[in-house]
Amino acid sequence: MNRPEEKVEKLREEIRKHEYHYYVLDDPLISDAEYDGLMIELRQLEEAHPELLSSHSPTQRIGGQPLPMFGSITHRLPLLSLDNAFSYQDLRFFDQRLKKELGPVTYVAELKIDGVSIALVYEQGVLINAATRGDGMVGEDVTANIRTVKSIPLKLKNELPRVEVRGEVYMPKGQFVRLNREKEEKGEKVFANPRNAAAGSLRQLNPKITARRALDSFIYDIMHLEGKDIYSQQEALQILGELGFKVNPQSKYCQDIEEVIQYIETWVEQRHGLPYETDGVVVKLDPYAGRQQMGQTIRSPRWAVAYKFPAEEMETRVLDVEVNVGRTGIIAPTAILEPVFIAGTTVSRASMHNFDLVEEKDIRIGDRVLIHKAGDIIPEIIKSLPQYREGQEKIIVPPHNCPACGSVLIRLDSEVAWRCENISCPARLKESIIFFASRGAMDIEGLGPALVEQLVNSGLVNQVADLYKLDVEKVASLDRMGNKSAHNLLQAIEKSKEQPLHRLLTALGIRHIGAKSARLLTQRIAHMENFFKVSEDELAQIQEIGPIMADSIVKFFAEPLNRDTIDLLCEQGVNMTEPRPLTQEFPLAGQTFVLTGTLQTMTRNEVAEVIEKLGGKVSGSVSKKTDYLVVGESPGSKYDKAMGLGIKILEEEQFLQNLGQWQQGI
Ligand code: IVH
Repeated sequence: MNRPEEKVEKLREEIRKHEYHYYVLDDPLISDAEYDGLMIELRQLEEAHPELLSSHSPTQRIGGQPLPMFGSITHRLPLLSLDNAFSYQDLRFFDQRLKKELGPVTYVAELKIDGVSIALVYEQGVLINAATRGDGMVGEDVTANIRTVKSIPLKLKNELPRVEVRGEVYMPKGQFVRLNREKEEKGEKVFANPRNAAAGSLRQLNPKITARRALDSFIYDIMHLEGKDIYSQQEALQILGELGFKVNPQSKYCQDIEEVIQYIETWVEQRHGLPYETDGVVVKLDPYAGRQQMGQTIRSPRWAVAYKFPAEEMETRVLDVEVNVGRTGIIAPTAILEPVFIAGTTVSRASMHNFDLVEEKDIRIGDRVLIHKAGDIIPEIIKSLPQYREGQEKIIVPPHNCPACGSVLIRLDSEVAWRCENISCPARLKESIIFFASRGAMDIEGLGPALVEQLVNSGLVNQVADLYKLDVEKVASLDRMGNKSAHNLLQAIEKSKEQPLHRLLTALGIRHIGAKSARLLTQRIAHMENFFKVSEDELAQIQEIGPIMADSIVKFFAEPLNRDTIDLLCEQGVNMTEPRPLTQEFPLAGQTFVLTGTLQTMTRNEVAEVIEKLGGKVSGSVSKKTDYLVVGESPGSKYDKAMGLGIKILEEEQFLQNLGQWQQGI
């Protein structure tokens, strides 16, 4: 296997397989680092052979330039919506209507995913366009953005002439929480729910932004599948899975409407444990023949209905307001509530994000309020209920000074938030340390908010680097700490020194740089020292690193206080490098070399040694399995044989050049 086109295709297949396992089946076969290694290898090969580039390569999910505006796509068949059912009685009526026409009926019940509906078209197995619903007839062309959704295949497992499918693109709850937290930290407006967040992300003209939003998908409908007849929804879901789409695993075949109702009953509560938001259950007639017979109105099919879960809203009272200072100095008001049980948990606090929102909703201390959970997770006050006011309620106003350090708060023109600009503010320090120690960052077990509070208040820690100077006795003397837990903590801190550079980079909390971008950055820039030298232009060359990130990194490393922090961490023995992924350490893994003729600069043994060190193999004879023939002076018959087989020939000089690149891991 030596022809680059074969190699590129094989790598693509390999990467597709891993993307399928990771993003569709949620069951990765290899580590993230190994996956990244394969992607790097493919990118390098494609860079070296631009003629092999293809739009459905896994490297081409994120297209080049932002679009000036979205085009429109006319749906071949309109995207209908569904009639709603709000009670079991509504469902039984629906069932009776069907039975009257069709006799006994069977159903498939599916969770109704709260996202954005999407129509996808594939030709010869390749994704050619993706459109939003729009008005049902004409949608927006969001192909470039949909390509960034990793669970949507760019290439199907089967090269059918034409396939049209429909489904839902959504933002997972965890991603929604992260995105809103990030927005809050930047002083920006937050999204009301994951559906708005998904819609907003899909409507970005720059696909790089959509890519960072990590959207996901479930596909549930086949509109057209050339060359194959489909008889039921169950079969459609199975085929969708076989084609490589992500299909929701919770769907259920039901013998009758009572079984559908049982299904709904189980999900009313259980849904809160799912990683995505669902607002109901879609009940679909299973056999396609019956669907044909029932037909549709202009708006919706007669063979399906959407049961809506009752809205989870509760009344409670605002007892007080707490003002918190975030890691970036943003001041956020939090309502302290009379505890209520809602959507699976007891809620006693709700972030109000910023003071503008408090004013807009006219929320006062002592008010009765209506609450829900945004994205099924984040407790939020929907509105105050002024009709219950008795006159003692207190209007909430933003403080003039930081509640932690007293410095005067400022507000930038473009932001909704007030900020404390004092970088030594103890509240900011605490938040930065909690973040530094968190799971996705340096992962220091046992170093949670309560302990950080004590470490900072006692003066033991005045900046992150102080963590590495702690001694057991002092830690053991803190509240609720014994010798053993102090010991464990120090051990965890010590262990964190070994974390790879991308963890440290994440932990430093550079604006706009999360765990994923840190990983991408450190694959190219493997030593901390080099971050002080790199230019914005060089950074923007790195895949998925945009100008805003590049600017933020350069500014961070230009700040002398940050240099001091990094120097101190380095002095304490914190690792400042990124280990190379396996494929970079052994760039010649799986490659077979044959040598012929006399080389000028190296002996055969030396050549063999260096090839083997890089993971390659040296063989004595040329065969179809040979990848490279290295040719010195007066080559023998191996040369002719290799030429005959189309094997790649490397003259000495070229070999040395390649060797240099392989050794640098390029
Ligand atoms: S089937 C012909 N199945 O809910 C109707 N829809 O009004 C095809 N939705 O716009 C829709 N999950 O965006 C179907 N499992 C599911 C769904 C689902 C979410 C959305 C869809 C549609 C709306 C219903």
